[in-house]
Amino acid sequence: METENREIFNGIAGKYINPWCIPGRKRKKIEKIADSLGLKKGMKVLEPGCGRGDFSSFILERITGSGFLYLADVSEKMLDYAGKNTGGFENVKLIRKCACSTGIKENSLDAVAAFNSFPHFYPKQKFVDHFSKILKKNK
Ligand SMILES: C[S@@+](CC[C@H](N)C(=O)[O-])C[C@H]1O[C@@H](n2cnc3c(N)ncnc32)[C@H](O)[C@@H]1O
Repeated sequence: METENREIFNGIAGKYINPWCIPGRKRKKIEKIADSLGLKKGMKVLEPGCGRGDFSSFILERITGSGFLYLADVSEKMLDYAGKNTGGFENVKLIRKCACSTGIKENSLDAVAAFNSFPHFYPKQKFVDHFSKILKKNK
């Protein structure tokens, strides 16, 4: 599934548009969704399946320059765009790996924020287990 997704999303990376992130009504909705995540200044966050990084700016606005954002995607082409879209930020790290094995240190993250990517993750439990490992405990 990981290899399949990589091929599919590498193939459409150049023309992929996240309809939620273009200006207009949906963008207002996405602002509300991002507000509801409880992201705060200084947080360390993983965005799995970040694609071209369209949602990443919503996360970065909330965690600000004192936070840190890991962007993980199996598609290197999607990730190239994500790198360009977040190019001004030093507190961003791109990870070209399956989101179920990011290599991020255990017990180190404040949040995992996925947008429109979880439906592509299989088997789901593998991802949930990895996210639980890297999230800080006893918060
Ligand atoms: C529908 S796109 C959404 C991209 C982005 N989150 C957005 O909303 O614009 C799904 C993304 O998940 C990525 N993806 C699929 N399977 C993955 C996996 N196992 N690990 C990491 N990323 C994956 C794809 O490469 C693609 O970039």
